[in-house]
Parts: sequence; structure tokens; C-alpha cells
Amino acid sequence: MNPNRITVPGILARKSSDKKITALTAYDYCFSRILDDTEIDIVLVGDSLGMVVLGYENTLPVTMEEMLAHTRAVKRGIQHALLVGDMPFMSYQVSIEQAVTNAGRFVQEGGAEAVKLEGGVRVADKAAAIVRAGIPVMGHIGLTPQSVHQFGGYRVQGKSFIDARHIKQDAKELQKAGVFSIVLEGIPLELAAEITQELKIPTIGIGAGPQCDGQILVLHDLLGLNQDFVPKFVKQYAQFAEQARSAVQKYVEEVRSGQFPSHEHTYHMQSGPLKKVEEQGGGK
Ligand code: KIV
Repeated sequence: MNPNRITVPGILARKSSDKKITALTAYDYCFSRILDDTEIDIVLVGDSLGMVVLGYENTLPVTMEEMLAHTRAVKRGIQHALLVGDMPFMSYQVSIEQAVTNAGRFVQEGGAEAVKLEGGVRVADKAAAIVRAGIPVMGHIGLTPQSVHQFGGYRVQGKSFIDARHIKQDAKELQKAGVFSIVLEGIPLELAAEITQELKIPTIGIGAGPQCDGQILVLHDLLGLNQDFVPKFVKQYAQFAEQARSAVQKYVEEVRSGQFPSHEHTYHMQSGPLKKVEEQGGGK
């Protein structure tokens, strides 16, 4: 095992250090290699795959087979980051048996080192069973996208006292279940700070303010590749969609004008033009 590899105990130990946990999503080999060349701690094959790569309206149609294919691709590019597979909708809600079986598939078939699942109190029994099977679990509470229909849209959660209390309860139940970290998504900064302070395990925020123990973003949001709605919590560190569009447009124009392929992008025979060699009686 690579001695520089990020491990689950290593992530847990960050709770008592002041080095923030950094996490991003990836869905393919090309980007997982790029991420792994940086100091990123965790790479999550998120079910956001459904929206940013597969073009679905939300994450609900994503299947285990799709998640496993992309987890395997990401795995091939990773040497040091911790690889977490995101359990898709209906892969863990129905029964403990299904939850453990599908979590096991992420490890056995996908090469993931941990799985993530959405929900607190209502999935704590599934999380505990997966942990008992020896598979580390990352929790995910607050604005959990798989419950979009229950929320009536992607709305910030935990703004009222009662809702905040439920989310705190979710966090505590997940900690009791043995998860090694919890993603806090789309909740007010004050609530995220309180949960972070009260838990012994690290919190990883997305739209939850700066006081979490770490941060996660969808890679395509960070790179400016996602051209749909850009939420308030997203910082675009690049404008890749714009750059990709103008590169492709330039290619189209250069092919049409004959500028591409030029001499430097073309192969040449050692002996010169074929016709000339034939005239000189060569090439018999
Ligand atoms: O699916 C996903 O990408 C996620 C993260 C953004 C937390 O769940």
C-alpha cells in the first residue's frame, strides 16, 4: 500500500488537527488522474454523475451499474486520495441486506474504500450494518438531493429551530452508527458550526459555511464546466466550458480554412513523395 495514501483513520485524525479536509467529485479516469496529482484528500464518485455527466434532471435515475462503471474508471487514476462511492437512490433504503450488499459491490467491484449515503435517523440502521461489515461510511445530511421531491426543490434546510434540531439529531445518530465523517449540505453556517463542534467525527461542508472540518464541491461546478444553474455556494475557479467552446470553434474554422492540419501535424515518408520514387524506378 502506498505510504502516502489517505486513509479513513487519517481523515478521522483531522478532527483534532487544523488541516482542513479537501474533497471533490470525479467521474472518469482523466479527471481522477488530475485530482490525484494535487493534494486532494478525498475523491467522491458522486451520484451528481447523473446530472453533470449523464444529463438527467436529478440524481434519482442513477443506477448501481452506472455508479460502479464510473467508480472503476476513477479508481484507475487514483494513487493517493481516499476513494468514496456514492450509493444511488434505492440502493440502500429498502433493507439492511440490500444496503450491505450494494455497499460491498462498491468495494469489491468498484475499488472504493468507503461509501456515502444520504439521510440521518432513517438510515442509521443501514449505516451501522455497513460499518459492521467492515466498510467505512460517510454520512450526508441537510439538503440531501435524493429527497428533492420531499423538499419540493433544492431548498436550504435547517433554517427553523425545529428543522435544525432534527438535523442535529441526524448527525448524532450517524455518529452513533459509526460513520467516519458527515457531509453537511445546504444548511445555515450557524447550524453547521454547532454540529461540527459537537461531533467527534469530521464534518465536510457544501453550502454549509467555512466552519466545517472540510469542504467538498462538484468538480464540474468548480471548473466552470456545468452550464446550468450555479448555486450561491459554488466558486468557479475556472471557466472550462467557455474555453472548450472557443477551442472547438477554432478547430472548426481552421479545418475549413485549411490551416489545420499544418506541416507539423502531418506525417511524411522518408523517401519523399510516392510518385517521385516510382518515376525513379524505386518501390518495386
Ligand atoms: O453527489 C454528489 O456529488 C454529492 C456531493 C456534492 C456531496 O453528494
